[in-house]
Amino acid sequence: MKIGVSGASGKLGGAVVAELIARGSGHELVAISRSPESVTGTVEGRLGDYDQPASLVKAYAGLDRLLIIPSADLRPGVRGGQLKNAIDAALEAGVAHIFLMSAAGAREEAETSHASAYWTAEQHLIKTASRWTILRMSYYAESMADEIKMSQGQGVLAGLGDERVSYVSRDDIAAAAAGAMLGHDHEGAIYTATGPAAVSGPERAAIVSELLGKPIGFAVISEEQLRAGLSQSGLPDPIIEAFVHIKRRFVAGNFDIVTEDVQRLSGRAPKSLRDILAQHLV
Ligand SMILES: NC(=O)c1ccc[n+]([C@@H]2O[C@H](COP(=O)([O-])OP(=O)(O)OC[C@H]3O[C@@H](n4cnc5c(N)ncnc54)[C@H](OP(=O)(O)O)[C@@H]3O)[C@@H](O)[C@H]2O)c1
Repeated sequence: MKIGVSGASGKLGGAVVAELIARGSGHELVAISRSPESVTGTVEGRLGDYDQPASLVKAYAGLDRLLIIPSADLRPGVRGGQLKNAIDAALEAGVAHIFLMSAAGAREEAETSHASAYWTAEQHLIKTASRWTILRMSYYAESMADEIKMSQGQGVLAGLGDERVSYVSRDDIAAAAAGAMLGHDHEGAIYTATGPAAVSGPERAAIVSELLGKPIGFAVISEEQLRAGLSQSGLPDPIIEAFVHIKRRFVAGNFDIVTEDVQRLSGRAPKSLRDILAQHLV
């Protein structure tokens, strides 16, 4: 089988390719992105740009299975169009089974929302492809570790409410994606890759306190306070707005879902938030 990963030069895509290699499947692997020169070893690198549909049709030619990983382009409406381009190109190229990386809590939203792309792409895939599988991801535990590193000096972690989030390691998402692509019986399924538990803001602060050996609290702040704090750290406005939007989704319970899909698809239990924080903070 010829298996392609689109978005392969990114952190998640790279981890998926590594998992596919580690699983020693004997299949041919194709890594697709705008920087195919970064691909080494036995994997074939191909140029595919989500903004240039013709390049995608060429890049996806001859593939039996393809995983489409969204770019991290946060401009409103852009990623939805890119993902439609990728799905249409995969169909034109004759890819037999298309896998889409989406996000937990995907739902119809205004195009101005950076998360609207996930729902747009899911719906387009379901309507147009005959063989598809969707893997929704919960929030990266590694992203939360980065956030904690930025704020731990203040002695308090902040949120917009009592956020319950099933933080999942990026490597576990990658393992689930690789397992699904190499497996059978996943047609027409929507999976959600989550960690083993949904962790609230105060529970998160308690884990950090224990790991660092010093008291760290949790405070509920307003969106204005959050924006002001982020802007003081020099982040550009689009990033700040994306961050606020994610925090809103935390409070709305979009990531308050726990499944056994990582274990089911990858054959191994997902790591806990504590495991990941211990790796990154201590
Ligand atoms: N669930 C979560 O908590 C969470 C957290 C962070 C990110 N994400 C999302 O998860 C996805 C993957 O994340 P990541 O960490 O792997 O991001 P990343 O490291 O920034 O990788 C993004 C990938 O998209 C490719 N790409 C960007 N623009 C492209 C274009 N126009 N055409 C073709 N490929 C393009 C990049 O390759 P080239 O630049 O080489 O083309 C790269 O391979 C993104 O959608 C990101 O927003 C989710």
